[in-house]
Amino acid sequence: MYSSIIRDIKAKYGSRLAILGHHYQSDAIIGHTDLKGDSLELARQIDKLQAEYIVFCGVHFMAESAAILRKERQRIFIPDSSAGCVMANMAPADLVEFILKRILKETGKKIIPLAYVNTPAAVKAVCGNYDGSVCTSANAVTMMKWALERGDGVLFLPDKNLAMNTADKLGLSAGSRCELDIRGGGMNVDMKAAAKSRLLMWPGLCPIHQRFKVNQIEEFRRRYPDALVAVHPECPPELVQAADADGSTSFLIKFVEQAPSGATIVVGTETNLVNRLDAIHHDKKVIPLGISFCSNMAKITEKNLAELLQNIENASEEDVEDDIRIPARKALERMLEACA
Ligand code: 13P
Ligand code: SF4
Repeated sequence: MYSSIIRDIKAKYGSRLAILGHHYQSDAIIGHTDLKGDSLELARQIDKLQAEYIVFCGVHFMAESAAILRKERQRIFIPDSSAGCVMANMAPADLVEFILKRILKETGKKIIPLAYVNTPAAVKAVCGNYDGSVCTSANAVTMMKWALERGDGVLFLPDKNLAMNTADKLGLSAGSRCELDIRGGGMNVDMKAAAKSRLLMWPGLCPIHQRFKVNQIEEFRRRYPDALVAVHPECPPELVQAADADGSTSFLIKFVEQAPSGATIVVGTETNLVNRLDAIHHDKKVIPLGISFCSNMAKITEKNLAELLQNIENASEEDVEDDIRIPARKALERMLEACA
Protein backbone atom coordinates (compact mmCIF):
# COMPACT_ATOMS: atom_id res chain seq x y z
CA MET A 1 0.00 0.00 0.00
CA TYR A 2 2.71 2.53 1.01
CA SER A 3 4.72 1.41 -1.96
CA SER A 4 1.99 2.36 -4.42
CA ILE A 5 1.45 5.73 -2.68
CA ILE A 6 5.17 6.48 -3.10
CA ARG A 7 5.14 5.39 -6.75
CA ASP A 8 2.06 7.52 -7.53
CA ILE A 9 3.50 10.64 -5.91
CA LYS A 10 6.82 10.15 -7.69
CA ALA A 11 4.99 9.86 -10.99
CA LYS A 12 3.00 13.02 -10.23
CA TYR A 13 6.06 15.12 -9.36
CA GLY A 14 8.37 13.66 -12.01
CA SER A 15 11.76 15.40 -12.17
CA ARG A 16 10.70 17.97 -9.55
CA LEU A 17 11.24 15.31 -6.88
CA ALA A 18 14.40 13.30 -6.18
CA ILE A 19 14.69 10.54 -3.57
CA LEU A 20 18.24 9.86 -2.44
CA GLY A 21 19.24 6.85 -0.36
CA HIS A 22 22.32 5.67 1.47
CA HIS A 23 23.46 2.08 0.86
CA TYR A 24 22.47 1.06 4.41
CA GLN A 25 18.79 1.65 3.73
CA SER A 26 16.45 -1.34 3.49
CA ASP A 27 15.75 -2.90 0.09
CA ALA A 28 12.21 -1.49 0.20
CA ILE A 29 13.54 2.07 0.46
CA ILE A 30 16.39 1.52 -2.02
CA GLY A 31 13.73 0.40 -4.50
CA HIS A 32 12.21 3.91 -4.42
CA THR A 33 15.43 5.89 -4.80
CA ASP A 34 16.44 7.90 -7.84
CA LEU A 35 20.01 7.95 -6.60
CA LYS A 36 21.86 5.80 -4.11
CA GLY A 37 25.43 6.15 -2.92
CA ASP A 38 27.97 6.52 -0.18
CA SER A 39 28.23 9.76 1.79
CA LEU A 40 30.66 11.35 -0.67
CA GLU A 41 28.71 10.43 -3.79
CA LEU A 42 25.46 11.71 -2.32
CA ALA A 43 27.03 15.00 -1.19
CA ARG A 44 28.52 15.48 -4.67
CA GLN A 45 25.16 15.00 -6.36
CA ILE A 46 23.29 17.77 -4.52
CA ASP A 47 24.73 20.55 -6.66
CA LYS A 48 23.89 18.70 -9.89
CA LEU A 49 20.29 17.88 -9.02
CA GLN A 50 17.61 19.85 -10.82
CA ALA A 51 14.84 18.63 -8.50
CA GLU A 52 13.14 21.14 -6.28
CA TYR A 53 12.14 18.60 -3.61
CA ILE A 54 14.97 16.39 -2.37
CA VAL A 55 14.09 13.61 0.06
CA PHE A 56 17.05 12.10 1.83
CA CYS A 57 16.70 8.52 3.05
CA GLY A 58 19.58 8.09 5.44
CA VAL A 59 20.63 9.54 8.77
CA HIS A 60 20.26 13.15 9.82
CA PHE A 61 23.81 14.41 9.14
CA MET A 62 23.37 13.36 5.50
CA ALA A 63 20.19 15.40 5.05
CA GLU A 64 21.84 18.26 6.91
CA SER A 65 24.86 18.16 4.58
CA ALA A 66 22.42 18.31 1.66
CA ALA A 67 20.74 21.33 3.29
CA ILE A 68 24.15 23.02 3.57
CA LEU A 69 24.97 22.36 -0.09
CA ARG A 70 21.52 22.94 -1.60
CA LYS A 71 20.66 25.65 -4.09
CA GLU A 72 18.33 28.46 -2.99
CA ARG A 73 15.25 26.97 -4.68
CA GLN A 74 15.78 23.42 -3.38
CA ARG A 75 14.04 22.01 -0.32
CA ILE A 76 15.52 19.09 1.63
CA PHE A 77 13.49 16.59 3.63
CA ILE A 78 14.16 13.47 5.71
CA PRO A 79 11.28 11.08 6.50
CA ASP A 80 12.31 10.83 10.19
CA SER A 81 14.55 13.57 11.55
CA SER A 82 15.22 11.54 14.71
CA ALA A 83 17.35 9.18 12.60
CA GLY A 84 20.65 10.37 14.06
CA CYS A 85 24.10 8.80 13.73
CA VAL A 86 25.33 7.55 17.11
CA MET A 87 28.92 8.41 16.23
CA ALA A 88 28.04 11.91 14.99
CA ASN A 89 26.60 12.66 18.42
CA MET A 90 29.91 11.80 20.10
CA ALA A 91 31.47 15.12 19.12
CA PRO A 92 29.34 18.04 20.34
CA ALA A 93 30.35 21.30 18.62
CA ASP A 94 30.86 23.33 21.81
CA LEU A 95 33.27 20.80 23.20
CA VAL A 96 35.09 20.46 19.87
CA GLU A 97 35.60 24.21 19.63
CA PHE A 98 36.64 24.54 23.28
CA ILE A 99 39.24 21.79 22.98
CA LEU A 100 40.52 23.03 19.61
CA LYS A 101 40.96 26.58 20.96
CA ARG A 102 42.83 25.29 24.01
CA ILE A 103 45.14 23.18 21.87
CA LEU A 104 45.85 26.06 19.48
CA LYS A 105 46.60 28.43 22.35
CA GLU A 106 48.49 26.12 24.66
CA THR A 107 50.61 24.28 22.09
CA GLY A 108 51.21 27.25 19.78
CA LYS A 109 50.88 24.77 16.87
CA LYS A 110 48.74 25.14 13.80
CA ILE A 111 46.32 22.25 14.14
CA ILE A 112 43.85 21.74 11.30
CA PRO A 113 40.46 20.30 12.30
CA LEU A 114 39.20 17.58 9.97
CA ALA A 115 35.67 16.33 10.61
CA TYR A 116 34.36 13.05 9.29
CA VAL A 117 31.13 13.84 7.41
CA ASN A 118 29.36 11.92 10.22
CA THR A 119 29.16 15.07 12.36
CA PRO A 120 26.53 17.73 13.06
CA ALA A 121 26.60 20.88 10.89
CA ALA A 122 27.87 22.90 13.86
CA VAL A 123 31.03 20.78 13.99
CA LYS A 124 31.58 21.26 10.24
CA ALA A 125 31.17 25.00 10.90
CA VAL A 126 33.98 24.88 13.49
CA CYS A 127 36.17 23.23 10.82
CA GLY A 128 35.21 25.91 8.30
CA ASN A 129 36.10 28.66 10.78
CA TYR A 130 39.51 27.20 11.70
CA ASP A 131 40.91 26.50 8.19
CA GLY A 132 39.75 22.90 8.31
CA SER A 133 37.60 20.64 6.22
CA VAL A 134 35.51 17.49 6.11
CA CYS A 135 36.17 13.98 4.83
CA THR A 136 34.26 10.80 4.13
CA SER A 137 35.48 7.23 4.33
CA ALA A 138 36.04 7.38 0.55
CA ASN A 139 38.51 10.28 0.66
CA ALA A 140 39.96 10.19 4.19
CA VAL A 141 43.52 9.53 2.92
CA THR A 142 43.43 12.50 0.52
CA MET A 143 41.91 14.79 3.12
CA MET A 144 44.21 13.80 5.99
CA LYS A 145 47.16 14.49 3.66
CA TRP A 146 45.51 17.80 2.70
CA ALA A 147 45.23 18.77 6.38
CA LEU A 148 48.77 17.66 7.27
CA GLU A 149 50.16 19.79 4.43
CA ARG A 150 48.42 22.87 5.84
CA GLY A 151 49.43 22.68 9.48
CA ASP A 152 51.67 21.13 12.10
CA GLY A 153 49.03 18.53 12.84
CA VAL A 154 45.44 17.46 12.34
CA LEU A 155 42.60 17.12 14.82
CA PHE A 156 40.53 14.26 13.37
CA LEU A 157 37.02 13.70 14.69
CA PRO A 158 34.96 11.90 15.78
CA ASP A 159 35.98 8.45 14.48
CA LYS A 160 39.16 7.18 16.10
CA ASN A 161 39.13 3.98 14.01
CA LEU A 162 38.95 5.84 10.71
CA ALA A 163 41.71 8.17 11.99
CA MET A 164 43.99 5.23 12.81
CA ASN A 165 43.22 3.29 9.64
CA THR A 166 43.90 6.39 7.55
CA ALA A 167 47.09 7.19 9.45
CA ASP A 168 48.25 3.60 8.84
CA LYS A 169 47.76 4.10 5.09
CA LEU A 170 49.77 7.33 5.22
CA GLY A 171 52.53 5.67 7.26
CA LEU A 172 52.18 7.98 10.28
CA SER A 173 54.08 6.39 13.16
CA ALA A 174 52.29 5.33 16.36
CA GLY A 175 54.43 7.85 18.28
CA SER A 176 53.08 10.74 16.23
CA ARG A 177 49.46 10.06 17.22
CA CYS A 178 47.59 10.78 20.42
CA GLU A 179 44.05 10.06 21.56
CA LEU A 180 42.45 13.05 23.26
CA ASP A 181 41.01 12.70 26.74
CA ILE A 182 37.86 14.77 26.23
CA ARG A 183 36.53 14.28 29.76
CA GLY A 184 36.31 17.02 32.36
CA GLY A 185 34.62 19.44 29.98
CA GLY A 186 37.75 19.44 27.83
CA MET A 187 40.15 20.21 30.68
CA ASN A 188 41.84 16.77 30.69
CA VAL A 189 43.62 17.02 27.34
CA ASP A 190 47.31 16.23 27.68
CA MET A 191 48.83 19.31 26.05
CA LYS A 192 52.38 17.91 26.03
CA ALA A 193 51.23 14.88 24.04
CA ALA A 194 49.12 17.11 21.77
CA ALA A 195 52.10 19.38 21.05
CA LYS A 196 54.24 16.39 19.99
CA SER A 197 51.61 14.75 17.80
CA ARG A 198 50.82 15.04 14.09
CA LEU A 199 47.48 13.29 14.55
CA LEU A 200 45.18 14.19 17.44
CA MET A 201 42.25 11.78 17.58
CA TRP A 202 38.81 12.31 19.06
CA PRO A 203 37.75 9.09 20.85
CA GLY A 204 34.51 8.43 18.90
CA LEU A 205 33.42 5.24 17.19
CA CYS A 206 30.58 3.58 15.34
CA PRO A 207 29.01 0.82 17.48
CA ILE A 208 27.79 -0.98 14.35
CA HIS A 209 31.38 -1.48 13.12
CA GLN A 210 33.09 -1.70 16.51
CA ARG A 211 31.15 -4.89 17.15
CA PHE A 212 33.14 -6.98 14.65
CA LYS A 213 36.01 -9.06 16.03
CA VAL A 214 39.20 -10.47 14.51
CA ASN A 215 38.27 -14.00 15.61
CA GLN A 216 35.20 -13.77 13.35
CA ILE A 217 37.52 -13.21 10.39
CA GLU A 218 39.75 -16.09 11.54
CA GLU A 219 36.72 -18.36 11.82
CA PHE A 220 35.58 -17.53 8.26
CA ARG A 221 39.11 -18.08 6.95
CA ARG A 222 39.11 -21.54 8.55
CA ARG A 223 35.70 -22.40 7.05
CA TYR A 224 36.37 -20.86 3.62
CA PRO A 225 40.16 -20.81 3.10
CA ASP A 226 39.79 -19.00 -0.27
CA ALA A 227 37.34 -16.39 0.98
CA LEU A 228 38.03 -12.70 0.42
CA VAL A 229 37.40 -10.41 3.37
CA ALA A 230 36.55 -6.72 3.00
CA VAL A 231 35.56 -4.33 5.79
CA HIS A 232 34.54 -0.70 6.26
CA PRO A 233 37.31 1.55 7.71
CA GLU A 234 35.07 2.42 10.67
CA CYS A 235 36.11 -1.03 11.94
CA PRO A 236 38.94 -1.22 14.50
CA PRO A 237 42.47 -1.24 12.96
CA GLU A 238 43.12 -4.87 13.90
CA LEU A 239 40.08 -5.85 11.78
CA VAL A 240 41.28 -3.77 8.83
CA GLN A 241 44.71 -5.38 9.12
CA ALA A 242 43.23 -8.87 9.20
CA ALA A 243 41.03 -8.18 6.13
CA ASP A 244 42.10 -8.28 2.46
CA ALA A 245 40.69 -4.83 1.74
CA ASP A 246 38.84 -1.94 3.32
CA GLY A 247 36.93 1.04 2.02
CA SER A 248 33.71 3.02 1.88
CA THR A 249 30.37 1.41 1.16
CA SER A 250 30.82 2.11 -2.57
CA PHE A 251 34.27 0.52 -2.42
CA LEU A 252 32.77 -2.59 -0.81
CA ILE A 253 30.13 -2.79 -3.54
CA LYS A 254 32.81 -2.59 -6.25
CA PHE A 255 34.97 -5.10 -4.42
CA VAL A 256 32.17 -7.66 -4.57
CA GLU A 257 31.36 -6.79 -8.21
CA GLN A 258 34.99 -7.28 -9.21
CA ALA A 259 35.53 -10.53 -7.31
CA PRO A 260 35.67 -13.57 -9.62
CA SER A 261 32.55 -15.60 -10.26
CA GLY A 262 32.21 -18.36 -7.64
CA ALA A 263 34.07 -16.33 -4.99
CA THR A 264 33.09 -16.26 -1.34
CA ILE A 265 33.33 -12.74 0.05
CA VAL A 266 32.95 -11.92 3.73
CA VAL A 267 31.95 -8.28 4.23
CA GLY A 268 32.22 -6.38 7.52
CA THR A 269 29.70 -3.58 7.42
CA GLU A 270 26.00 -2.86 8.00
CA THR A 271 23.91 -5.95 7.27
CA ASN A 272 21.31 -4.45 4.89
CA LEU A 273 24.07 -3.73 2.37
CA VAL A 274 25.75 -7.12 2.74
CA ASN A 275 22.46 -9.02 2.32
CA ARG A 276 21.64 -6.94 -0.77
CA LEU A 277 25.03 -7.74 -2.30
CA ASP A 278 24.41 -11.43 -1.72
CA ALA A 279 20.96 -11.22 -3.32
CA ILE A 280 22.26 -9.36 -6.39
CA HIS A 281 25.31 -11.53 -7.08
CA HIS A 282 23.87 -14.98 -7.80
CA ASP A 283 27.25 -16.32 -8.91
CA LYS A 284 28.98 -15.34 -5.63
CA LYS A 285 28.48 -16.03 -1.96
CA VAL A 286 28.47 -12.79 0.06
CA ILE A 287 28.42 -13.35 3.81
CA PRO A 288 28.12 -10.78 6.61
CA LEU A 289 31.10 -10.87 8.97
CA GLY A 290 28.50 -10.50 11.72
CA ILE A 291 24.92 -9.28 11.97
CA SER A 292 25.02 -5.54 12.67
CA PHE A 293 22.12 -3.30 11.66
CA CYS A 294 22.18 0.48 12.09
CA SER A 295 18.96 1.12 14.01
CA ASN A 296 18.94 4.77 12.98
CA MET A 297 19.16 3.98 9.27
CA ALA A 298 16.24 1.60 9.92
CA LYS A 299 14.04 4.45 11.13
CA ILE A 300 13.32 5.32 7.50
CA THR A 301 10.41 3.17 6.38
CA GLU A 302 8.02 3.08 3.44
CA LYS A 303 5.36 4.32 5.87
CA ASN A 304 7.15 7.51 6.92
CA LEU A 305 8.45 8.08 3.38
CA ALA A 306 4.87 7.83 2.01
CA GLU A 307 3.54 10.12 4.76
CA LEU A 308 6.21 12.71 4.05
CA LEU A 309 5.53 12.64 0.31
CA GLN A 310 1.77 12.98 0.85
CA ASN A 311 2.37 16.17 2.82
CA ILE A 312 5.53 17.44 1.15
CA GLU A 313 4.21 20.94 0.40
CA ASN A 314 3.71 21.59 4.12
CA ALA A 315 6.31 19.28 5.65
CA SER A 316 9.08 20.77 7.75
CA GLU A 317 12.26 20.92 5.75
CA GLU A 318 15.87 20.54 6.82
CA ASP A 319 17.43 23.92 7.23
CA VAL A 320 20.63 25.21 8.75
CA GLU A 321 20.94 28.77 10.08
CA ASP A 322 23.35 31.00 8.15
CA ASP A 323 25.85 31.37 11.02
CA ILE A 324 26.40 27.60 10.85
CA ARG A 325 25.58 26.98 7.19
CA ILE A 326 28.11 29.42 5.71
CA PRO A 327 31.25 28.15 7.53
CA ALA A 328 30.04 24.52 7.29
CA ARG A 329 29.63 24.96 3.53
CA LYS A 330 33.14 26.37 3.34
CA ALA A 331 34.46 23.22 5.06
CA LEU A 332 32.48 20.93 2.72
CA GLU A 333 33.50 22.89 -0.38
CA ARG A 334 37.18 22.58 0.57
CA MET A 335 36.66 18.81 0.53
CA LEU A 336 34.76 18.81 -2.77
CA GLU A 337 37.51 20.96 -4.36
CA ALA A 338 40.36 18.86 -2.97
CA CYS A 339 38.67 15.69 -4.27
CA ALA A 340 37.27 17.03 -7.56
P1 13P B 1 30.05 5.61 3.63
O1 13P B 1 30.44 7.03 3.39
O2 13P B 1 31.17 4.65 3.37
O3 13P B 1 28.82 5.27 2.87
O4 13P B 1 29.76 5.42 5.19
C1 13P B 1 28.79 6.14 5.87
C2 13P B 1 28.53 5.53 7.16
O5 13P B 1 27.80 6.05 7.98
C3 13P B 1 29.16 4.27 7.46
O6 13P B 1 28.77 3.82 8.71
FE1 SF4 C 1 26.47 6.28 12.12
FE2 SF4 C 1 27.51 3.84 12.37
FE3 SF4 C 1 24.96 4.12 11.61
FE4 SF4 C 1 26.99 4.78 9.96
S1 SF4 C 1 26.47 2.74 10.70
S2 SF4 C 1 25.14 5.96 10.34
S3 SF4 C 1 28.49 5.61 11.43
S4 SF4 C 1 25.86 4.72 13.60
